[in-house]
Order: sequence, then C-alpha cells, then structure tokens
Amino acid sequence: MTAYAARFPILSRLLHWLMAAMILAMLFIGIGMVATVSKRYELLVSIHRPLGIAILILVVVRLVNRCLNPPPALPDTVPPVQRWAAKASHIVLYASMVAMPLVGWGMLSAERYPIVLYGPLQLPSILPHNVALYAWLRSLHTYLAYLLFFTFLAHFGAALFHGLIRRDGVFESMASWRSRASK
Ligand code: HEM
Ligand code: HEM
Repeated sequence: MTAYAARFPILSRLLHWLMAAMILAMLFIGIGMVATVSKRYELLVSIHRPLGIAILILVVVRLVNRCLNPPPALPDTVPPVQRWAAKASHIVLYASMVAMPLVGWGMLSAERYPIVLYGPLQLPSILPHNVALYAWLRSLHTYLAYLLFFTFLAHFGAALFHGLIRRDGVFESMASWRSRASK
C-alpha cells in the first residue's frame, strides 16, 4: 500500500486507455499499409482514415476534459528531472495526437485524394492541390509517427519503472479502476 493515493479522474482514465489502444493500432495499421502491395492495402487504409479522425475528435474531448478535471500532482518523491521528463513527454504525446491526424488529412487534401470516412461520408479538403506540399506532408507523417512511437516507448518504460520498481502509486493513478476513499 503506497502513501500516494491520487487518481486521474475516471473519464481521463477511460480516454487514456481507449486512445492508447487506438493509437497503437494506428501505428501498426500504418506500417502494415505501407508494407503491403496486396488487396489488404485498401482495407487497411479504409480503417486508418476514420480511426485517425476519431483520434482527432477524442483528443479534443480529452484536452477539454483535462482543463475541467485536471490530473493529480505527482508524488513528492519524484525527482525534478523526472517531473520535467514526464511533462515534456506528455506535451509531445498530446501534440502528436493532434498533429498526426491533421497531417494525414492535410496530405490527402494536397494530393486531391477523396478523404472517404465510410460509404458516402467524406471529409472536405483542407489544403489546396499541391504535389510538393503533399510530398512534404507525407514525409512529415512518417517522421511524426517515429516521434510518437519513440516517445510512447519512453512513456511505457517510465510507467513500468513506476509500477514495478519504484511502486510509488504513479502507475496506479492511471491504471487502477478502484476509487480510493482518500481521493
Ligand atoms: C493518430 C493518428 C495517425 C497515426 C498514428 C498514423 C500513423 C501512420 C503510419 C505509422 C503510417 C506509415 C508511415 C510510413 O511508414 O511511411 C501512416 C501512413 C499513412 N497515413 Fe496515417 N496515421 C494517423 C492518422 C491519419 C489520418 C487521419 C489519415 C487520413 C485521413 C492518414 C492517412 C495516411 C496515409 C494516406 C498514409 C500513407 C499510405 C501510403 O503511402 O500508402 N493517417 N500513418
Ligand atoms: C499501453 C501502455 C501505456 C501505459 C502503461 C501508460 C501509462 C500511463 C500512466 C501510468 C500515466 C500516468 C502517469 C503519468 O502522469 O505519467 C499515463 C499518462 C499519460 N499517458 Fe499513458 N500509458 C500508455 C500508453 C499511452 C499512449 C499510447 C499514449 C498516447 C500516445 C499515452 C499518453 C499519455 C498522456 C498524454 C498522459 C498524461 C495525461 C495527462 O496528464 O493529461 N499513454 N500513462
């Protein structure tokens, strides 16, 4: 039993785990898409587009929720450099969750490619037709995916470090579904 019993609000925890699953799926679907020349390409792209736009909508909900229900402070035992690293990595993760779908949407717009979500449901183009801009955004989509993936690995490592080694309650602040009387 740890002295630190703070919890992220329940909606924050639900959004965190739902979006973690969606984002990890998107990274693997993206890699699968560009690695195949089979018929599965169309299927993977048709999942990638709407799932990416759902992430964009959910991250807006998540940021509004974060303003209304702020996260708990880290325990006093966490050294300043780790506090700084946690804050910086969370900023990169949030920025990537916003930027990745917008860049994906933008690059298809610049390519003048129909941005089909489902059946007749299409998104409007957000950028003018420009092949050079498309090429730039296409590369940016890849580099941001690397940034997101490596930041996630650091985040995952830090979460395991707190949960398995320090056992200071930080992991449980996001991972536990129990509510504490002291909260
Ligand atoms: C969090 C959201 C997203 C993530 C994590 C993500 C991730 C990825 C990844 C990892 C790739 C493969 C990159 C490479 O190896 O070069 C990729 C490619 C791609 N993504 Fe996304 N993506 C996201 C959102 C979107 C959205 C919203 C759209 C469009 C509306 C989109 C359209 C594409 C397209 C068209 C490709 C390239 C397919 C190809 O060249 O064959 N992405 N994405
Ligand atoms: C699947 C493995 C994951 C685990 C075990 C995990 C664990 C945690 C834990 C324990 C926290 C609370 C501690 C802290 O403040 O650092 C947290 C916060 C956070 N996680 Fe994760 N996470 C995972 C995946 C992800 C993914 C894929 C993303 C997004 C790309 C993400 C984004 C965030 C953000 C932005 C916060 C800070 C929340 C806030 O302050 O509003 N996590 N995570």
